[in-house]
Amino acid sequence: MSFRLQPPAPARPNRCQLFGPGSRPALFAKMAASAADVINLDLEDSVAPSDKDIARANVIEAISGVDWGHKTLSVRINGLDTPWWYRDVVDLLEKGGERLDLIMIPKVGCAEDLYAVDALVTAVERAMGRTKPIGFEVIIESAAGISHVEEIAKGSPRLQAMSLGAADFAASMGMQTTGIGGTQENYYMLREGAKHWSDPWHWAQAAIVAACRTHGILPVDGPFGDFSDDEGFRAQALRSATLGMVGKWAIHPKQVTLANEVFTPSDSAVAEAREILAAMDAAKARGEGATVYKGRLVDIASIKQAEVIVRQAELIAG
Ligand code: COA
Ligand code: MG
Repeated sequence: MSFRLQPPAPARPNRCQLFGPGSRPALFAKMAASAADVINLDLEDSVAPSDKDIARANVIEAISGVDWGHKTLSVRINGLDTPWWYRDVVDLLEKGGERLDLIMIPKVGCAEDLYAVDALVTAVERAMGRTKPIGFEVIIESAAGISHVEEIAKGSPRLQAMSLGAADFAASMGMQTTGIGGTQENYYMLREGAKHWSDPWHWAQAAIVAACRTHGILPVDGPFGDFSDDEGFRAQALRSATLGMVGKWAIHPKQVTLANEVFTPSDSAVAEAREILAAMDAAKARGEGATVYKGRLVDIASIKQAEVIVRQAELIAG
């Protein structure tokens, strides 16, 4: 083990991030009333170019005009390859009030993208005398983003969370699919004539989780486009949770419950984790570093695994 200890990720629940277009203000109160931990008001790709200014104005009004309760409130700005992003940042921070928690930066390709936004945010914060520093979240959704994922994860002290954006990622990679996440019909192995589907998102997710865990950032799974396919969403979310991601986006309110279910450790998982911790306490008292729990080995590494589940449950309960 390196002498550098792994930094903890921000201690806040991030099981579900519910998105809504900034150009549909009628949705904002419904988003606030949802069970999502994080709300993402979107100025980027769900807003048509002709609606950018009105969407920005709607979002600025809603930041202080809507009661967001204890939710984490984030606004997705436009990408750094557009003419809109600097105005998004300046107006959000000059006119949006202190309730805003995070700015989400889409399509990041390198650490300097975060540096550029950080420089602008820092200047506006100082000019306005804002007392609450804005945090960042980023979307990895390009070949450059995944290639530079580790330097991006350490790209700004403001960074709190990183999501995989499957649709833009697939386009940037030249993947032959128009689906947003989930099972890809053509990604299979053959064995004795039978198809066995594999997961084309797996490696990108694992790279994101590793970069995030190295630098104390929350790894999050992005959108699942087919909101009529609950089982497909659940299967994707279960795979993401198994790999270490803490939550998933919802692009329709019906996905919020699904995400919260998957990313909240079940009562039985928490009970088992606590039993493992108790078994290891008893082993320690006997001077042993390893013992048997339900017929299988548990040792000092099992304590850390069990603590992941217990800590997550306590965070959500608290
Ligand atoms: N947040 C909260 N409520 C929402 C919602 C959202 N994102 N999307 C829809 N609703 C509400 C609708 O207003 C409707 O409410 P009602 O029962 O009070 O009338 C209900 O949920 C059912 O909506 P439905 O008719 O099924 O959806 P729609 O056709 O109005 O909209 C989408 C479907 C996909 C266009 C819409 O959900 C959407 O814009 N999602 C977010 C897209 C986005 O932000 N993308 C960027 C990230 S990938
Ligand atoms: Mg995108």
